Amino acid sequence: MAFRNFKMVGYVIYGRGSFNQLAEIIAPHRKAGAPMIFLVDHFFEGKALASRVPVSDKDAQHPADKIIFVDVTYEPKTTYVDSLANQLKEEFGTVSGIIGIGGGSTLDLAKAVSLMMNNPGSSADYQGWDLVKNPGVYKVGIPTLSGTGAEVSRTTVLTGPTKKLGMNSDFTPFDQIVLDPELTANAPVNQRFYTGMDCYIHCIESLTGTFLNEFSKSYGEKALQLCRDVYVKKNGWDAESDDKLMMASYAGGMSIAYSQVGVAHAISYGLSYLLGTKHGIGNCIVFDKLEEFYPEGVKEFKYMVEKNNIEIPKNICAGLSDEDFNKMIDVSMGLKPLWENALGPDWEKQMTRERLRALYEKL
Ligand SMILES: NC(=O)c1ccc[n+]([C@@H]2O[C@H](COP(=O)([O-])OP(=O)(O)OC[C@H]3O[C@@H](n4cnc5c(N)ncnc54)[C@H](O)[C@@H]3O)[C@@H](O)[C@H]2O)c1
Ligand SMILES: [Fe+2]
Repeated sequence: MAFRNFKMVGYVIYGRGSFNQLAEIIAPHRKAGAPMIFLVDHFFEGKALASRVPVSDKDAQHPADKIIFVDVTYEPKTTYVDSLANQLKEEFGTVSGIIGIGGGSTLDLAKAVSLMMNNPGSSADYQGWDLVKNPGVYKVGIPTLSGTGAEVSRTTVLTGPTKKLGMNSDFTPFDQIVLDPELTANAPVNQRFYTGMDCYIHCIESLTGTFLNEFSKSYGEKALQLCRDVYVKKNGWDAESDDKLMMASYAGGMSIAYSQVGVAHAISYGLSYLLGTKHGIGNCIVFDKLEEFYPEGVKEFKYMVEKNNIEIPKNICAGLSDEDFNKMIDVSMGLKPLWENALGPDWEKQMTRERLRALYEKL
């Protein structure tokens, strides 16, 4: 098909306190004999938000709902997705829905576990484009950090045995998202910045990319303006910052839905595969060194880092072996659509393994 016909999120609710409507929103999706499963970021174990999750008790028609606090110390692995899905299948057969509450890692876990409830084998079998065969169970995404765009995207990024790649498919987007900026209010300053910069970098990569069209541009420009409001114009953090960054993340995600990310993401995926560097911070480490590709964006990025008093790690590739560099280069070079968006159809002539190695050595 010449034009991509992309599947979007089913329902969106936005606003401070909208989380309080969750019980009502999910009620029509309850199926006889099948509970709702809440995958909640482990940060919230014992916190006030966990006690606000609308778990319903056992009744004549349904077993009790269940909260599983998910460990996102490491970004989601296919083995973790498989074990969560298998555990649920063993315990309940099927479930009414999967509701993810947390940062991008938790949202990705929720999407992937939902898909694996209805697809055979391992999630590693579906890492790639349009490999998922059946729709998953009803799935809801509720972000507690803003920036990744995972709430709107058609992918769920997983580290598998041989690659770090998403389950990219029309079955992947959430059926419902709940955007409640109150949930991001107390995120740690550094983490909030790294995840927020994921959005900023999505905008720069999309807006300067060769895949750009007016659809992507409209969302990308809006998201970029919101990021600038928060990180360039404002002094200090307040409720309005949370409101704006949540909408920036949404619009940034919409922008890349119809374009692609670029050089920073292509390089940071390699880092993450080899060293386990997390997405937000990894993107920052890489973007900081990409003046030759994004001169204006990198200049503004450095300003935001300084203004917001953020620490960007340095020399993380010092001491790596040739084999290590080659692994990162393999992962990165495999991300063809990203490179093509960034550099055009003849990207392979421009981005040689030697040039990429030199870039990794700078990090
Ligand atoms: N599917 C997509 O389209 C897509 C896009 C970009 C990134 N991602 C994925 O998203 C992940 C990164 O997500 P992220 O940057 O949101 O971080 P994250 O989900 O990895 O969480 C980072 C840390 O913040 C904590 N945390 C979450 N919410 C918090 C809150 N409100 N207060 C305090 N701590 C909180 C978590 O427990 C964790 O320790 C990566 O796994 C990446 O691959 C997915
Ligand atoms: Fe990203």
